[in-house]
Amino acid sequence: MNDKNKQVELENRLKAKEKEIEEKNKEIEQLQKTRLGLYWDKEKEPEQVVLDCENNLPVLKRIKGKEIKSDKGEENILIEGDNFHALTCLNYTHQGKIDVIYIDPPYNTGNKDFKYNDRFVDSNDGYRHSKWLNFMEKRLILAKKLLKETGVIFISIDDNEQANLKLLCDRIFGRENFVGNLVWANKEGGGSGDSRHFKIKHEYLLVYGKSKENLEIQGVDIEDEYRYKLSDEYEKERGKYQLIKLDSASIQQSDSLKFNIISPENTIIEPKGCWRWSEQKVKWGLKNSFVVIKKDKQNNWAVYTKQYLKVDNKNKPIERNKRQIGIIDKFSTTQSNRKIKELFGKVNFEYSKPYELIHLILKLSSNKNSLILDFMAGSGTTGHAVLQLNKEDGGNRKFILCTNNEINGIEKEFKEKYNLSNIEFEKERKEKSKRYYKWEEKYGICSAVTYPRIKKVINGYNKNGNGEFVEGLGGNLHYFKTDLITIDKVIDEKDKEKLKINDKNRKELTHKAGQMIAIKENIFEELRLNNFYQIFESKDKKRRVGIYFGESKEKFEKIVEQLKGNYKSALYIFSYKKIIKKNYTLSKNIRLEDIPEPILEIYKEVNRLIKK
Ligand SMILES: C[S@@+](CC[C@H](N)C(=O)[O-])C[C@H]1O[C@@H](n2cnc3c(N)ncnc32)[C@H](O)[C@@H]1O
Repeated sequence: MNDKNKQVELENRLKAKEKEIEEKNKEIEQLQKTRLGLYWDKEKEPEQVVLDCENNLPVLKRIKGKEIKSDKGEENILIEGDNFHALTCLNYTHQGKIDVIYIDPPYNTGNKDFKYNDRFVDSNDGYRHSKWLNFMEKRLILAKKLLKETGVIFISIDDNEQANLKLLCDRIFGRENFVGNLVWANKEGGGSGDSRHFKIKHEYLLVYGKSKENLEIQGVDIEDEYRYKLSDEYEKERGKYQLIKLDSASIQQSDSLKFNIISPENTIIEPKGCWRWSEQKVKWGLKNSFVVIKKDKQNNWAVYTKQYLKVDNKNKPIERNKRQIGIIDKFSTTQSNRKIKELFGKVNFEYSKPYELIHLILKLSSNKNSLILDFMAGSGTTGHAVLQLNKEDGGNRKFILCTNNEINGIEKEFKEKYNLSNIEFEKERKEKSKRYYKWEEKYGICSAVTYPRIKKVINGYNKNGNGEFVEGLGGNLHYFKTDLITIDKVIDEKDKEKLKINDKNRKELTHKAGQMIAIKENIFEELRLNNFYQIFESKDKKRRVGIYFGESKEKFEKIVEQLKGNYKSALYIFSYKKIIKKNYTLSKNIRLEDIPEPILEIYKEVNRLIKK
């Protein structure tokens, strides 16, 4: 190398070093600016499910034959697969549409409850908390995009990760959107006795609003509603009422509250102590039927106020409910095991939450039309609670559940049945042997617990297998699995982040996107599927959605023909870029949409968010 070349090389190296220093300085500056917060090790070994999305596109595939239908109730969804893939797809179908998210993630106890990249994270793993945070961060970022502006997320957690999760959520949802850290006393009896210091018998529910300002949390019902059992001619506006004596010995004595009231027999009634209302107010009460004078059990004249359920003592409408206290001490883990036993005759999943707990938080946070998501669904408690609540208040809430199909919660029993040691079981699992797949089909959480539980709850079941019949709650379920389409990415020289795929993949995606479009449009009955188009119809036969795969003008006319008429329809038209809507003159009832570009746009956004 001559001197000149050497000099150029040195200069280049110097420039590279200077750039490196500049970047490090920026990092330091950033760290100094954000002294408050959470730091953890970024991934050394990225999650395979995330890497999968670099060369594949996740889609949802319907599993036909597994739908559960009843003649009443809404259309609900169960997705089997990794929730990173499911959340990516849901960002296409449900961005900004979810009212309530509840999740119960692995608590990272170090005791085989949390798998990162398909391996259990044990308590000796130096990156244990970082792995968990990396896992949760990605999912929560995607979940946040699904929430409505008025939406809310509840996350069950215990002391293993509560503090880390709080800071992570502050970062993702914004500290200003922290709503509360509820304490749930989860154990009956004494609580965990293995601590030398305190008996811990509680865990938490962290609550964040998408925007706390827009979030509404309802009060809980009063517990003594049964006392309001009398009625009068004002029942329609004021509700039922209870009688409460007007005199009281216990309130502060005041001369102005001591006056005589005349009975219907013209006798004088004196208060014991003093009256609770002023003379003027009593006059108003008598005139407006808020005060009655009648004989008591001892046959003496007594004065009562009427306390109505729906109005206060000024005849102003009120909700007789109260704010939920941040400590919930009603439902226990023992109770949830009992429920699982009642459903299956045995406890085939040990980590479920009591459905009464989820029922309570849904009552506080949902309305009758809410859409509820649980992407760590386990035994499907959230779905059960949604159906129960609908039954109670005639609601039309819908749920989306997602869970993987791992054999968890019943490993011990399973290994005993097949006479497998831990090592043998893990070997089969890692190798993903054919045998293991078959086991998953039979014993995996989604196949063996989530799906059958929802089926039982919809259709009805015998308690403990042979006891009293519990009526079904109604509802419908559609079963999906996550799937991947392998793509040949085309690098866009101008915009390297741009997710460009070739025309063949674009077509394949369009052909496979039909089921996701059905989910997006909430229209599930497949009417037609051929090489040119696919059509779905809603249960009430009022709405249709068509997906036109392209190629044939004649077939285009055919699909349009089937979407015309008295339906509210949508037509998704395949195109290589964006369609020019004004070039289509279709009947007014048909809304036009592009496919597959919007899916690619969303996936690009997901990739960008995750990398950031
Ligand atoms: C603690 S359990 C939830 C229990 C649930 N709340 C109930 O009442 O049954 C957590 C569930 O999340 C599931 N899970 C964990 N990681 C997942 C992932 N990456 N994708 C999908 N499901 C996952 C596990 O299979 C497990 O069933």
